[in-house]
Amino acid sequence: MIARCDVLVIGGGAAGLMCAAVAGQRGRRVRVLEHANRVGKKILMSGGGRCNFTNLGTTPGHFLSQNPHFCKSALARYTPWDFVALVERHGIRYHEKDPGQLFCDDSSKQIVALLLAECAAGNVDIRTDCAVAGVALQEGGYVVHTAQGTFAADSLVVATGGLSIPRMGATGFGYALARQFGHAIVPTRAGLVPLTLSGTHLDDWADLAGVSLPVEASCAGQRFKGGLLVTHRGLSGPAILQISSYWQTGAGLSLDLLPDLDPAAWLLDQQRARPAAELKTVLADVLPKRLAARLCERRIDSRPLRQYRERELRALADALGNWPLTPSGTEGYRTAEVTLGGVDTGEVSSTTLESRRAPGLYFIGEVLDVTGHLGGYNFQWAWASGAAAGAVV
Ligand code: FDA
Repeated sequence: MIARCDVLVIGGGAAGLMCAAVAGQRGRRVRVLEHANRVGKKILMSGGGRCNFTNLGTTPGHFLSQNPHFCKSALARYTPWDFVALVERHGIRYHEKDPGQLFCDDSSKQIVALLLAECAAGNVDIRTDCAVAGVALQEGGYVVHTAQGTFAADSLVVATGGLSIPRMGATGFGYALARQFGHAIVPTRAGLVPLTLSGTHLDDWADLAGVSLPVEASCAGQRFKGGLLVTHRGLSGPAILQISSYWQTGAGLSLDLLPDLDPAAWLLDQQRARPAAELKTVLADVLPKRLAARLCERRIDSRPLRQYRERELRALADALGNWPLTPSGTEGYRTAEVTLGGVDTGEVSSTTLESRRAPGLYFIGEVLDVTGHLGGYNFQWAWASGAAAGAVV
């Protein structure tokens, strides 16, 4: 027997639940098919358990996509303030961490509870442990074969997310489904992910694991200021995660190790003020001590400051502001926060998120080739794209 409804949503994550709630509250009969044993697993683990649920400064410029204009329409119609209003309606206390980044005071569980309450208000039927085996188009409607039987609907929403953190339920199913209906996939790769080092770069850094410092990381014309954390395999921290989304295999990175200083002016001042001090001692005032010692032991000749000519100090300042590094790779989907690439937006309506190839088929959230920076932007895209599709399915 085939169980019919108006809208089937594959994937009970951020975008899928938002879409289901909006459509359900419009009176549509909606069913969510989630293959994991509970919905919203990534929401639960997000923001260190406190879910960075939006960013008040969200603009289209915070997203990577082959078509940077695609995200504009949905983001303009469902803003961070719309989600904040929902959060406040549910009595969830929150705070702003870095400028614009909003986190729950208590727990990410509250965001999942909010979404479930909104779905309940729309009489959405949520099926967990419901693995989808295949989808077929029959008499103008979508028929979905699952572990819990066969379901059919006129509208099918693909909200299966990206490939990151497979143990949380990530699959490539959405991409396979998109291909089945003639959609192109922009090649996928891990984004917002720690970078790995090898060879001399690893020798220089690996035993400094645990050291952290503010840097500005740059590559491919992009610059991100923030923390860097040395790991046993390479580099992590917000600045590295951000730049990882722009980094391509084989490319180099540049690190400004003193992003809050004019290093040349500072070194010349130090030379005037402390001519007998060794460079290594002076650098340890502005860099973590172990890192300053390592740089001087392996890469920089450390002498009393009075022994340096001005041009040597200027060259040193330049080196500290543009420290070159060539990562060997990334930690991959195992630890990545997001997946870059995905369903090509060229064949999807930016207004409704409906496929231009298969009427009634919708793609929302991270499965699309739209990926946000670190800082709450990815959830804002999930809410906005989910709400846009939920309003029309
Ligand atoms: P999402 O991944 O949320 O949901 C997809 C759902 O589809 C999952 O429930 C999955 O199990 C299900 N599914 C997959 N294949 C299926 C199939 N074949 N059948 C049925 N169901 C299927 N972003 C942010 O803005 N702020 C933050 O604080 C964080 N923090 C963060 C931490 C960590 C550790 C990660 C990994 C990611 C983040 N993110 C984030 C990113 C954010 O979690 C992500 O961008 C959104 O969850 C994407 O929402 P979607 O609904 O598109 O996918």
